[in-house]
Amino acid sequence: MTNETNGPSSGDCTQDLAGKHLLLGLSGGIACYKAAELCRALIKAGATVQVVMTEAAEQFITPVTMQALSGRPVYTSQWDSREANNMAHINLSREADAILIAPCSADFMAKLLHGRADDLLSLMCLARPLDQVPLLLAPAMNREMYAHPATQRNLLQLAADGATVLGVGTGFQACGETGDGRMLEPDQLLEDVIAFFTPKVLAGQQVLVTAGPTYEAIDPVRGITNLSSGKMGFAIARAAREAGAQVTLVAGPVSLPTPRGVTRVDVKSASDMLDAVVSHAKFATIFIATAAVADWRPAAPAMQKIKKDGSGHAPQLEFAENTDILATVARSAAAQAGALYCVGFAAESHDLLENAQAKRLRKKVPLLVGNIGPDTFGQDHNALLLVDAQGNTALPRASKLSLARRLVQEIASRIGA
Ligand code: CTP
Repeated sequence: MTNETNGPSSGDCTQDLAGKHLLLGLSGGIACYKAAELCRALIKAGATVQVVMTEAAEQFITPVTMQALSGRPVYTSQWDSREANNMAHINLSREADAILIAPCSADFMAKLLHGRADDLLSLMCLARPLDQVPLLLAPAMNREMYAHPATQRNLLQLAADGATVLGVGTGFQACGETGDGRMLEPDQLLEDVIAFFTPKVLAGQQVLVTAGPTYEAIDPVRGITNLSSGKMGFAIARAAREAGAQVTLVAGPVSLPTPRGVTRVDVKSASDMLDAVVSHAKFATIFIATAAVADWRPAAPAMQKIKKDGSGHAPQLEFAENTDILATVARSAAAQAGALYCVGFAAESHDLLENAQAKRLRKKVPLLVGNIGPDTFGQDHNALLLVDAQGNTALPRASKLSLARRLVQEIASRIGA
């Protein structure tokens, strides 16, 4: 037997689910093959996982596979004599921090809806203490089944009954059709489960984040940009969403996946970024400017590729200064009235504290986060220095996602959320 240890990429290898015990329920559907990888991802994130399978699920994947991945015998029957009291549905549900059904078939949803309990998994869901053991559902089915009014009605009612419905993916389905209804990918489900357990310190907040570099065109094939990877801003967007905020991420040209549940607006130049930010800032309560916006742009980009003229002389470029997006938003009426909390970043090469303090006053923002440019650009780790009117707080070097989560907590406490 080979020993596979590498899990799917979750973007971060932190033990985000350490101490959590999850009951992973599989109902019948081809997406059971993804449940194997999900199980591994949950364990890699620090959770312990007890798998329970329906008879239909066993048609798609064996309990042997799930036992090997979870490191625990799988339960499949409500008559399992391994339990001394023969009450697996009670014992298993009492020790879980949450029950995650992935895949959750249309039939299983209908069963849950009616409170049916003729197999271990549905029995366990019905028997769980409602206020202590949350139920998360990852639907998976053919697009017609998903779109059917009965299914949509069931989804709404299950949510009204207290279940958390994690949504579905869109795309090519095993049946050959294309549409909504695929089960979310394991790394997406992992992100959703982690978000589910995160305290909602930003509930009700509308967060607007800028991230990445900008690209200022010289001609149709060349331009000026910088080494910003966007990772810090994307991590902040993810952390804010985990904390319960509605998040819009205005991203310069980067090739990073959009964090789950975040609305992304792609832009290229500083001027595009300014337009997008100004239109979204109207709805925001928190603005976090992490983007490395180009300070200057070629004043008159050429409409056609600039050709060498054989003279040996480089073309002379004129530059114009870009508008300061952060300072513009910080001057807005909402920010002045305290309805929009603005957070700036400062990428410095030296004298971090002095430069960050000066930049905070110059940009007129309540909180400025300093970091050393060469230590952060393109890297997965960083160290931050938070500077506000009260003083400064150093967040030591850590993964950008952990720093983003710390920063979100710091912002929440400053706005009294
Ligand atoms: N910023 C912005 N729009 C600009 C320039 C910067 O919104 N045109 C924001 C950045 O997103 C960051 C903060 O302002 O939050 C500081 O950016 P930084 O590049 O460190 O500072 P600069 O304003 O460019 O100042 P300097 O060049 O003097 O360091």
